[in-house]
Amino acid sequence: FPSNLRYEDLVITRSKSLQVKPRLDASTLKFGAVYTDHMLQASWKDGLGWSAPSIDPLGSISLHPCAQVLHYGVECFEGMKVYKGKDGQLRLFRPEMNMDRLARSAARLTLPQFDKLELLECIKELVRVERDWVPDEEGFSVYIRPTMIGTHPFLGVSPTREAMLYVILSPVGPYFPSGLKPIKLYVETENVRAFPGGVGDNKIGGNYATTILPQLRASHMGCSQVLYVLQDGMSEGGLVGESGSMNMFFLIRQEGEDGELELVTPPLDGLILPGVTRDTVIKLAQGFRDIKVSERPLHFDEVERASETGRLLEVFGTGTACMIQPVMSLTKKDHTEIKIPFNADAAKYWLAKPPGTGFTLNSFMEEPFSLCGR
Ligand code: COI
Repeated sequence: FPSNLRYEDLVITRSKSLQVKPRLDASTLKFGAVYTDHMLQASWKDGLGWSAPSIDPLGSISLHPCAQVLHYGVECFEGMKVYKGKDGQLRLFRPEMNMDRLARSAARLTLPQFDKLELLECIKELVRVERDWVPDEEGFSVYIRPTMIGTHPFLGVSPTREAMLYVILSPVGPYFPSGLKPIKLYVETENVRAFPGGVGDNKIGGNYATTILPQLRASHMGCSQVLYVLQDGMSEGGLVGESGSMNMFFLIRQEGEDGELELVTPPLDGLILPGVTRDTVIKLAQGFRDIKVSERPLHFDEVERASETGRLLEVFGTGTACMIQPVMSLTKKDHTEIKIPFNADAAKYWLAKPPGTGFTLNSFMEEPFSLCGR
């Protein structure tokens, strides 16, 4: 094993049988159900470092049944996207933020560190190999899923001594089957996603595994996702957190005759995933003339009060997978609903027409990368 993960060591083996590309139709292309023909992989061993990375035909991986990931959930991942512009060029969206977050999640799980720029170069090479998969239709992209797992076959709960890093690609449209139409959220006050001192601010698989059951219950209430509200003892309603796969934003008009518009999102206090789209929306909205952006604790009582007095103007979630997802209502345990009135155009508003500025989320896209690889 050479000790560092290095782009110059990358070995490419092309698949002999390429799949037929799916039709890009939001109603049939289910998020995360179709994968491209190749994957990137590398393995790591304590004392030896990283193997030469390789791009190979997509295939199953073989693990010892005692591999740490299978018993203790030693796994972290990222979600990134590559887009094809109208100019035919490929662009990644703020990929350095994903590399930083992957390294941070890996450190939390004692998974190995890696050279972030070298991994990014390897991912770009994978995208070059799969360039024909990148859609040019608006709203579609290729979702990139870097994943790291602890593979050491050992049942003792101990630091990782062997690991595997792999990256798969999936052509995607909207995350929710309803597309970018506003969704309903269920206000979840019994199960928590994150807690002080926990790992809610890391992108690790375990954080998502435990959200599936609450989400299933929410779907029985007619809701697409849950909004986690933590009972912190500070208010009756509890502290607003995030949704299963999204950071949350609330546009509230403050009280008083000339109440200012405030875009509120919970702060990065250890309970919230530092989302790339979250950060982008904050930076973008800071450029709006008429909106104050606040990263501050938000209690559900305030959301309810704002709704009762007609001051709750928008609620939306952000995430790489879901992009910017408008929310139409918040359903409480007693089945009462908080309706959010002016949200039908939220996606258009935030994505394409920020008032007072000439730029959109696209302005955060990195420069196109060269299609000439190796
Ligand atoms: C993402 O937005 O990239 C995520 O990882 C969320 C996941 C639940 C699809």
